Amino acid sequence: MSEQDDRSERGGQRRGEAFFNDTGLWGFIHRSFTKSMGYTDDDLKKPVIGICNTFSELNKCHSHFRELTEYVKRGVWQAGGLPMEFPTISIGEPYVKPTTMLLRNLMAMDTEEMIKAHQIDGVVLIGGCDKTVPAQLMAAVSANIPAIVLTGGPMLNGKLNGRTLGACTDCYQFTLEHKAGNITDEQLTVAENAICRSDGHCMVMGTASTMAAIAEALGMALPGCAAIPAPDSRRRHMAELTGKQIVQLVHRDIRPRDIITPESIDNAIRVTMACAGSTNAIIHLVAIAGRLGYRLPLERFDEISATTPFIVNVRPSGKYQMEEFFEAGGVPSLMKEIEPLLHGGCLTVTGGTVTDNLQGVLVPDRELIYPLAAPIAPQGGIAVLRGNLSPNGALIKQTAVSPHLRKHTGRAVVFTSPADLNARIDDPDLDVDENSVLVLQNAGPKGAPAMPEIGQIPIPKKLLLRGVRDMVRISDARISGTSYGTLIVHVAPEAAIGGPLGLVRDGDLIELDIDGRKLELHVDEATLRERSAQWQAPPPAYDRGYGLLFLERVLQADEGCDFDFLLPPELRTTK
Ligand code: FES
Repeated sequence: MSEQDDRSERGGQRRGEAFFNDTGLWGFIHRSFTKSMGYTDDDLKKPVIGICNTFSELNKCHSHFRELTEYVKRGVWQAGGLPMEFPTISIGEPYVKPTTMLLRNLMAMDTEEMIKAHQIDGVVLIGGCDKTVPAQLMAAVSANIPAIVLTGGPMLNGKLNGRTLGACTDCYQFTLEHKAGNITDEQLTVAENAICRSDGHCMVMGTASTMAAIAEALGMALPGCAAIPAPDSRRRHMAELTGKQIVQLVHRDIRPRDIITPESIDNAIRVTMACAGSTNAIIHLVAIAGRLGYRLPLERFDEISATTPFIVNVRPSGKYQMEEFFEAGGVPSLMKEIEPLLHGGCLTVTGGTVTDNLQGVLVPDRELIYPLAAPIAPQGGIAVLRGNLSPNGALIKQTAVSPHLRKHTGRAVVFTSPADLNARIDDPDLDVDENSVLVLQNAGPKGAPAMPEIGQIPIPKKLLLRGVRDMVRISDARISGTSYGTLIVHVAPEAAIGGPLGLVRDGDLIELDIDGRKLELHVDEATLRERSAQWQAPPPAYDRGYGLLFLERVLQADEGCDFDFLLPPELRTTK
């Protein structure tokens, strides 16, 4: 399939039509093999709709996808299509080691190649857990046949002793308080049992919820899809509607590259900032844009953040969770509130524009979605920091930092690797106090490897016991979208390729100024040159297989961490 696949290359036939109408040996084989599964000649005349079902018992967030797939099929049949389910790899955050980020690009490749290799006319991509939706969106842009994303929905709220719990924001809080000796082993077990009580993905505005909102804001999922809780019957209704709608997209030949454009990416960034979404979304949006041939600079995120108030009162930056956000209207109500800031003319999978879709949408709950004119905070959730410590940028979720640390200068306490961090963070002799800046090196795309979510560097136990709950922490790693605290992540270039982060030493002064968008290492140039001359790359984590391919071809965080060879040729140059 060429990148510009169109029906004129097949005499005006759809891909599925050409597949079954072949008059030679292969047509005979295609028809007879397919009919052996119980399909009739009438069925073979219908648009063929691939349904990418990423069910896996190694991915809790997709545990209900078998059932969801049946509802999509029902919609496809109702609309006159022929549904054909297929698998790809499925990556669940807590299950994949060292990190799902290692496999996001593999899933994107798997999905793209499955779509291109099979003569399907359209595809429904069912995803949910953090890396799955970005992988599917990247694949959808590259394969570019009609496609809709159906996300699996968030879990219901956890409940314990009258308190609402959210994964994984409260996972951190419970384990932190357990470590500080404030809760017992038994209480921890009770919390484990209570926090995740239904199917679905993490139910705060973590990466999964953010990417679901982004799929909707881009126009690639039907309006209202993102926030419906996984067990709610309306999630099944949404699955059926999605099945119906993909058939219409095939008839109208509306494709991802008609929908995902620089303007719709701006809309997705606006929504991300208004709901203080995950920092991971920045990497994924840059990667999705890259598949279009659009180099999306970090400055664009900062520009949009500066002009998009934070208005969605959902954890980890706010008070409520996805269940309440759904009751408050979800992404359509959010987009209605920020409509003056959106590109209303962008096409969506409804076949209409953003403006069309927002006709008649209400914003019913001002405790959940604040007015643009009276927001929770005047700017969006994420700020981009630059300086001599992060020449190509670093990110901070500014809505989740402690106010007293927004502007801070402190002495570095350096950990040279995740293993070093684990070995020494709770050492009673560690020379650290609450004003120190914790620095983790060699945890970036090529470093750790694959940039794991370990940027929420633990507070040293001796400070925890003294009541310290936040410190400035800096790394080239990522954080979970459910994390909170003064966490500077995605420092680029990373330490493992010689970036300045790798040149920091214990005792160096580091200055953070969020409002000034500054991250500076106060060490003179000559000393830095000397350290750079002595710098040695850490040993590679892999010497064969997919891991080696990853190390050799992955791009830096500010470039989306895609593989260079998956970008269109014009973007295949690193900075
Ligand atoms: Fe899948 Fe959190 S573990 S979304």
